[in-house]
Amino acid sequence: MTHSQQTTLVLGGTGRTGSRVAKNLIGRGLGARTAARGGADVRFDWDDKSTHGPALAGVDSVYLVTPVMRVDFAGQVSDFLDLAEEAGARHITYLSTYGIEQAPAEFAIRAVELDLLGRTRLTHSILRPGWVMQNFSDDHLPLVDGLITVPTGDGADAFVDAEDIAAVATETLANPEAHAGAQYAPTGPEALTVAEVAAIIGDVIGRPVKHNDIDREAWISGAVAAGFVPAPYGEILRWLTGTIASGKGSRPTDDVRKVTGVPPTSLADFAKRSILAWAGQAPR
Ligand SMILES: NC(=O)c1ccc[n+]([C@@H]2O[C@H](COP(=O)([O-])OP(=O)(O)OC[C@H]3O[C@@H](n4cnc5c(N)ncnc54)[C@H](OP(=O)(O)O)[C@@H]3O)[C@@H](O)[C@H]2O)c1
Repeated sequence: MTHSQQTTLVLGGTGRTGSRVAKNLIGRGLGARTAARGGADVRFDWDDKSTHGPALAGVDSVYLVTPVMRVDFAGQVSDFLDLAEEAGARHITYLSTYGIEQAPAEFAIRAVELDLLGRTRLTHSILRPGWVMQNFSDDHLPLVDGLITVPTGDGADAFVDAEDIAAVATETLANPEAHAGAQYAPTGPEALTVAEVAAIIGDVIGRPVKHNDIDREAWISGAVAAGFVPAPYGEILRWLTGTIASGKGSRPTDDVRKVTGVPPTSLADFAKRSILAWAGQAPR
């Protein structure tokens, strides 16, 4: 495998991390084939198996983003990994989530990790990032009337920039042998409560921003009723927010610097870079 021939299939290739992974790989002179249901190099739909083989043709490695907003996908992913092996792929970098190694094997995100750990024809790198900073600048946790509404209580998380997750992923895909079997937890440099995040964003945009620590069940049922998430995904939202609220959110690791040689982005630097996302909230 030479670098000029190496090609990575980037699932979620139009998403927050996949788009950045593809850009990084291309910037390094490596091949990247983005895959999504629309707007990518190849059409790939987890629910349409006929799209899987063509997407995998000739690839050496895969950036694996599993079906989003779902709870039951381990079987689908396992079939896909079988196909990837048959197609000649040799390495998978899997975007998992922080702390999932503590979750039961029935959790699909964990089940995919266990599946990868059991395979011998593929090497793997597992990324378990903290919550992504971009949640605050896109439609995941929108700033509405000066409030960030999420039931995380006084708990903190070492929120991480999607750019840093992508930078770690890029290293693993560019040098799979060096990262075979690795498990990284990319995080930001500091654990912050959402109230602290709100204060930082408020400083950057020049208006007060507060954390609205809403009742968890009300928040979940509101998200389901509004059609933002399917009802079964409520279980995952409960787990994700409950983990932070109970003080078990991610804590800073050295993994971004260790893998990329560059320290992770701070929330303040991310907010300055993303100021346009909150343009409607900025002083006139
Ligand atoms: N949000 C967080 O704080 C956080 C933290 C840790 C880990 N994660 C993990 O990050 C993953 C999401 O990655 P991301 O944030 O980079 O992506 P993202 O921005 O959520 O985008 C999702 C990507 O997947 C594609 N996609 C959605 N449904 C698909 C389907 N049925 N078939 C094929 N492709 C589909 C989307 O494109 P199309 O819609 O055009 O298909 C898009 O490219 C999730 O597994 C999540 O658990 C998130």
